[in-house]
Amino acid sequence: MTRLNENYLKVEKSYLFTDIEHKVHAFSEANPDAKIIRMGIGDVTRPLARPIVDGLKAASEEQAHVETFKGYGPEKGYAFLRDAIADKVYLSRGINITAEDIFISDGAKSDMGNFLDILAKGLDVLIADPVYPVYMDTNIMEGNRIHKLPCLAENDFLPQVPKDQKADLIYICSPNNPTGMTMTREALEDWVSYALEQDAIILFDAAYEAFIQDDSLPRSIYEIPGAEKVAVEVRSFSKFAGFTGLRCGYTVIPSGLMVRSEDGQNYPLADFWMRRQTTKYNGVPYVVQRAAEAAYTDEGYAACMENIRYYLDNAKALKEALETLGLKVYGAENAPYIWAETPADQTSWEYFDFLLNEAHLVVTPGSGFGACGEGYIRLSAFASHEDTKEAISRLNAIVKN
Ligand code: MLT
Repeated sequence: MTRLNENYLKVEKSYLFTDIEHKVHAFSEANPDAKIIRMGIGDVTRPLARPIVDGLKAASEEQAHVETFKGYGPEKGYAFLRDAIADKVYLSRGINITAEDIFISDGAKSDMGNFLDILAKGLDVLIADPVYPVYMDTNIMEGNRIHKLPCLAENDFLPQVPKDQKADLIYICSPNNPTGMTMTREALEDWVSYALEQDAIILFDAAYEAFIQDDSLPRSIYEIPGAEKVAVEVRSFSKFAGFTGLRCGYTVIPSGLMVRSEDGQNYPLADFWMRRQTTKYNGVPYVVQRAAEAAYTDEGYAACMENIRYYLDNAKALKEALETLGLKVYGAENAPYIWAETPADQTSWEYFDFLLNEAHLVVTPGSGFGACGEGYIRLSAFASHEDTKEAISRLNAIVKN
């Protein structure tokens, strides 16, 4: 019989958000009249901005005409989108990333997982705890050696550069999922120097960059000198432009970032990502890439930022409400996630059950993101204003009772 990759026996039996969905489904079957408010998975609720829908419609119409119909697209993604990203996200901010360094994909989650395809097995990998489960699970699946970086209240929930630890690959997510905390420039500089020293690669997940309000915080790892030699940056249109359903993201691999083969030869990493993608992937639909391009027009960008402010208003209201109820609360200022300590003697899952049963509110148990997340819950700010207000009044009511 065909043998299994036994590393799959070492990961949790099902994905965190699948487990939550099963629990919520069972609760909803048993309580059909309960109006459940979802603040679990970070899925957007604002509809797509008008300029994005217009871009999508115009591109769809092109598909009905022989002159403009599109089949397979260019391997790295269409130049119109890569140019728009290079201009708006990097060059206009003084960061030397060009369209050549950008690979369009169906989102950050796939790129983060697929990236391991082009690296050797058995790497020493540094991963924060708590963490977005994709980094941890995909490294377990590959059989890599994982070194966890505890992120606790005493270090502002941010991973610290370890002493005496060898590393090949380092995962950094800022603004952070799940804790909602954001790296300072100095902290990121420390990580870049460490990666240069170790000859390691940093996989920098900037999926939540659009939520940064504090101008002193870095939005891209390439703001840090030297990062272009060690860092791959992964970004997404999911949260910035509401593409969780449409699917589009991109990965940046600067041309100077090298990897080494066993015999000591250096090669540009981007060549192998290109090789991997062209072998296993046929790209994001043209219509979706046109919709993504529309997010960078003045009108499209302004509309996306309006949605970001909408979610940040929710985050602020939730943070204040939870603090008023006496919980210790983190994040929420430059990120759409609120990281809150559970009341004394309640585990993350116990508090999850309590909130689901008593307030019909879905959150994410912190321990689902790693052992250091025990004793916390994560709330997502992606609900509507109305649902957020209602959730706050339900929380007030259960505390009073
Ligand atoms: C989350 O809730 O952590 C994210 O929405 C999941 C994702 O972006 O894949």
